[in-house]
Amino acid sequence: MTEKRDAAPDAAAVPEKAEQMTIPEQSKKPSEAKAGETLLKVEGLVKHFPIKKGLLQRQVAAVQAVDGLTFDVRSGETLGVVGESGCGKSTMGRLITRLLEPTSGRVEFEGVDITHLGTARMRPLRRDVQMIFQDPYSSLNPRHTIGTIVGAPFKLQGVKPEGGLKKTVQEMLERVGLNPEHYNRYPHEFSGGQRQRIGIARALALKPKLVVADEPVSALDVSIQAQVVNLLDDLQDELGLTYVIIAHDLSVIRHVSDRIAVMYLGKMVELADRKDLYTKPMHPYTKALLSAVPVPDPKRRGTKSDRILLRGDVPSPIDPPTGCRFHTRCWKATEICAVKEPSFLTLEPSHQVACHHPENAPDQAPEDTKLLSVAREAIDVVTVTTAADEAEAEAEAAPEAEAAPAADTDEAPAPASDPAPDPAPAVKKAADPE
Ligand SMILES: Nc1ncnc2c1ncn2[C@@H]1O[C@H](COP(=O)(O)OP(=O)(O)O)[C@@H](O)[C@H]1O
Ligand code: SF4
Ligand SMILES: [Mg+2]
Repeated sequence: MTEKRDAAPDAAAVPEKAEQMTIPEQSKKPSEAKAGETLLKVEGLVKHFPIKKGLLQRQVAAVQAVDGLTFDVRSGETLGVVGESGCGKSTMGRLITRLLEPTSGRVEFEGVDITHLGTARMRPLRRDVQMIFQDPYSSLNPRHTIGTIVGAPFKLQGVKPEGGLKKTVQEMLERVGLNPEHYNRYPHEFSGGQRQRIGIARALALKPKLVVADEPVSALDVSIQAQVVNLLDDLQDELGLTYVIIAHDLSVIRHVSDRIAVMYLGKMVELADRKDLYTKPMHPYTKALLSAVPVPDPKRRGTKSDRILLRGDVPSPIDPPTGCRFHTRCWKATEICAVKEPSFLTLEPSHQVACHHPENAPDQAPEDTKLLSVAREAIDVVTVTTAADEAEAEAEAAPEAEAAPAADTDEAPAPASDPAPDPAPAVKKAADPE
């Protein structure tokens, strides 16, 4: 993903005339939550999917997909949620949009407990809380025109927009950078990026207050990921939206998030303002995730650096590790980590972490010093060089080699490599964790 604001809209984009969009009637109601106030509050949210077996379909185990999340989302902010595949991000997204019924815990939206609202009482809320899905191919009905798809929320909610449905839908298409003349076309006639724009238009049609975007760009070509993220960012400013953006990769949410939550095996392990999370991560897992992010700053390209690469796979959420769930992969794990779950504590203002031995903060269990044996094997620390670094070394080595082919030197010349446009460093040992 490239740096924010560096990409041009794609070919079919018609980005102007935002101001002319007709706002559907119900959305003129001002949001109850003012900017910065709590819009969504989540307490002890749990979702266990039962695993049943046998004729009687007895429950034999459960997938502990989400296991006790407590956080809030503030009006007008973008909360980025990051973690490896399978850690429960999508389940969390579906729980807070009430597409899934939680096993336990509580979800409050604008101060109202919505945890167990039935379909009828949820209907008005569906206008205010919307979801954008990961896969722009499967999330759009191939038999419907994009006019029908983007207009569907109005019909479902019985909302009659000012100026008529077609005009409003066309304005929405224009707003997301699509040609309104394509109202009668079908999803297969559009590229992946354009389909995701259709999904965004559908989600934003009723001008919701909260939008949960579940990996909104991970199915898209890298070259158009930035355009779609920038579009979401622009729409947030114009429509006063609050976002929860889910990603498995910190680079996607890095530039758009106000705060970032890190998840591991159904738990939230760190939550902080973006800058704090990047400059002084406290959880060892966050540190490893950050270590795997390419350096986008051109001034820092060409520098060699050490990276922490986690060994091993994420354990199964059916039978997660005891104590701290990260203790089977953590290089700081001591005896207490295997038996006592660390509390999710505020160790700095606006910075919460669940760790007995946090980085950049006082040790929470200083007396416990005996490392677990797994800790010694938990990570690889590898030195990486960037593509630019290697190209430079190659350029330096080449004239010398021509001028003095038999020169005495102990050092082998740097290996040749294709000049790569991507600043992503070449990792020499293991692959990045997802
Ligand atoms: N409907 C379901 N039934 C059973 N297990 C599920 C279901 N949905 C998700 N899971 C499991 O819950 C865990 C978390 O999944 P998910 O929320 O999709 O993670 P992520 O989005 O972070 O990749 C995974 O182990 C997944 O297999
Ligand atoms: S130091 Fe212990 S508590 Fe902290 S992340 Fe590692 S295993 Fe978990
Ligand atoms: Mg997911």
